Amino acid sequence: MRVLITGARGQLGRALQEVLGEHELVPLGREEGDITSPRIVERIVAHRPDVIVNAAAWTHVDGAESHPDAAFAVNAWGAQNVALAARAAQADLIHVSTNEIFPGRPGVFYREFDEAGPVNTYARSKWAGERMVRALWPRHYIVRTAWVFYHGGENFITKIIRAADKYGRLRVVADEFGNPTYAWDLALAIGRLITTRHYGVYHFTNAGYCSRYEYAREILRLSGRGHISVVPIQHHQWPRAATPPRHAVLRNTLGPYLGIELPPWQDALRRYFRREGEHV
Ligand SMILES: NC(=O)c1ccc[n+]([C@@H]2O[C@H](COP(=O)([O-])OP(=O)(O)OC[C@H]3O[C@@H](n4cnc5c(N)ncnc54)[C@H](OP(=O)(O)O)[C@@H]3O)[C@@H](O)[C@H]2O)c1
Repeated sequence: MRVLITGARGQLGRALQEVLGEHELVPLGREEGDITSPRIVERIVAHRPDVIVNAAAWTHVDGAESHPDAAFAVNAWGAQNVALAARAAQADLIHVSTNEIFPGRPGVFYREFDEAGPVNTYARSKWAGERMVRALWPRHYIVRTAWVFYHGGENFITKIIRAADKYGRLRVVADEFGNPTYAWDLALAIGRLITTRHYGVYHFTNAGYCSRYEYAREILRLSGRGHISVVPIQHHQWPRAATPPRHAVLRNTLGPYLGIELPPWQDALRRYFRREGEHV
């Protein structure tokens, strides 16, 4: 199959290129494939893709609060453009979305069919993108994921390691929960999904969940920084521009019907550090 990837230089975009080697790939980065340009439709169609993976997004959650129009331009209007391109090309569309579309009520584990309730601008822009995809082109898979990390990316792992090396001790929020997800495993799951033609909404994250605090502890342990002290704090002690949902933990209840399950996040993190060549 010819698989066109938008956002090809992002974490997931690069993982997809590594993992989907058996397909003919058309990777489009922002320079050659700006999804906010209406001309992206004809540009995508010209490549005659069988499948389009929209991995392009505005992912700066806090920045979306000060730049809402820019976030909506990429995450909603951009998704609309890619959906129109998929329709014009008669291609299957994988649109990647986020756990943040859920309100994140403590104690709730969100299924694919649960009600959305975005609580910040980034989440509202991603939810608008999902709605555009649904309205414009039925041959879509919406894949929601969470807390994505990959080599060479800017993510929670790199932030924790940078802060640990700079300050020698950390304060990390212990009452915000999510599912850490290795883009490698997510890309493999997407690779399986595109062969099924079972269109719909999926929750693909590494199995299990944790708090930011537990995640940070594991990052430090695996990277040989287990001696760094980490103080657990409450979310209100770490003010941010965006309000993150506190417990937007996803459950992958449908993937198993298609034989698609991702390994536990601790295992994914170990593989990540092994490849980084750091202490494990
Ligand atoms: N990262 C997470 O923790 C997380 C969590 C849940 C869901 N997700 C979702 O997972 C998907 C992949 O995320 P990721 O972690 O791979 O994000 P990422 O590393 O930030 O990659 C996103 C890519 O999109 C590109 N992009 C931005 N604006 C664009 C535009 N107008 N046209 C074309 N490309 C554009 C970015 O390019 P520049 O670098 O040039 O801006 C970047 O290469 C996104 O849909 C995201 O919402 C991510």
